[in-house]
Amino acid sequence: MTLYRIVGGNRLSGSIKVEGAKNAVLPILAATILNGSESIIENVPDLNDVETMLEILKNLGCRVYRRDNTVIVDSSSITSNEIPTVLVKRMRSSIILLGSLLGRTGKVISSYPGGCAIGVRPIDLHLKGLRMLGAHVEMHGQIVCQGRDLTGTEIQLDYPSVGATENIMLAAVLAKGTTIIRNAAKEPEIADLQGFLNAMGAKVSGAGNHIIRIDGVTKLKSCRYTVIPDRIAAATYMAAAAVTGGKISLDSVIVEHLHPVLDKIKESGCIIETNCNHVRVTAPKRLRAIDLIRTLPYPGFPTDAQPQMMAACCTAQGTSIFVENIFENRYRHIDELIKLGADIKVDGRIAVVRGVPRLSGAPVCAKDLRGGAALVLAGLMAEGVTEVEGVEHIDRGYENLGQKLKSLGADITMA
Ligand code: EPZ
Repeated sequence: MTLYRIVGGNRLSGSIKVEGAKNAVLPILAATILNGSESIIENVPDLNDVETMLEILKNLGCRVYRRDNTVIVDSSSITSNEIPTVLVKRMRSSIILLGSLLGRTGKVISSYPGGCAIGVRPIDLHLKGLRMLGAHVEMHGQIVCQGRDLTGTEIQLDYPSVGATENIMLAAVLAKGTTIIRNAAKEPEIADLQGFLNAMGAKVSGAGNHIIRIDGVTKLKSCRYTVIPDRIAAATYMAAAAVTGGKISLDSVIVEHLHPVLDKIKESGCIIETNCNHVRVTAPKRLRAIDLIRTLPYPGFPTDAQPQMMAACCTAQGTSIFVENIFENRYRHIDELIKLGADIKVDGRIAVVRGVPRLSGAPVCAKDLRGGAALVLAGLMAEGVTEVEGVEHIDRGYENLGQKLKSLGADITMA
């Protein structure tokens, strides 16, 4: 198992470009199935999850070309309705293909994606939405969705699920009539999917609010689209400045998407300077504790930035309280942070982080993507050597994390 070897203590400084958003590009790649034509997508990050999605598209019959951060998908001929089980197991977010494959071909077969390190990850809201559009869904070890004549309808989501919102949008684009999604997820990645679908000639509106309207169309066309920057990668690099008392500038961000995290980074004592697509974080020698971070659907504080902010609070002055409201098992980084000397108590969804003067390097293990990033951040500030095992989790969602941190002055090597 590959690992990151980090010698802590270096103050990070400099500037980096933030990559395209993982959680925007994955549903956009799934949507390329819909137009039966060519889609040119730019600012595609170099991530293992993106490679897995491209592999799935090829297995379904698409022709896929990639050069640097540009991907071209030609979905003229779809030769299979079955998402390969081995690829579903590798990336649970492949469930996002249900809507687009059903909308394009009228049938999709997929194994159940199952949970992952951070929670059960049910898909009941996805399937409820597809059934309400007229699909027949069976679950006998595999998920089989069938329905050639999907018909628009009004769908009330019990919870503003990102994936369920996306799957319903994808299935409704070619359905007959109008679909209204109420209590839709409002994340920026939903608005990016809307932008891509409309670039194909779909009629989608309202993304970013709690009501999304999709007027079905009969045909979609080729398109070119640029993916938004990754707000969670940006949050991770801002936290890297914070934990090392550093000064980091991030280019090509959308500041509007960062406010929930910027507010907490500021509360910890960092100076934030922003303009439309640029943010600079200047950190104090020692951070102040953050009274309360509770994760909520956007525009609340993002669950995907919770582990990284927790790492930052480990050596802050004072006690910080976290409440993880989105996933039931998203504290698996805490045991590992405690190995580095952190003082954290957990009771259900609440974690109490009492700032200690310093962390000490030790071998730790990443259990999931964002928890792994948190351990890297902790290693940047710990005294001595920290070895973070499980880099494959981290590579799923960050483009060249080690190299980018190294370019900012971190003593980090892949071993
Ligand atoms: C997306 O996951 C993201 N993944 C996650 O990012 C992110 O944490 C999450 O949204 C919340 O923002 C991608 O976009 C690929 P949800 P998703 O459906 O769609 C419950 C990362 O690190 N729920 O909004 O799976 C569910 O159990 C990843 O980049 C149901 O109950 O998130 C959870 O408690 C991690 N039934 C909550 O909703 C359903 O049918 C949030 O899930 C669906 C979800």
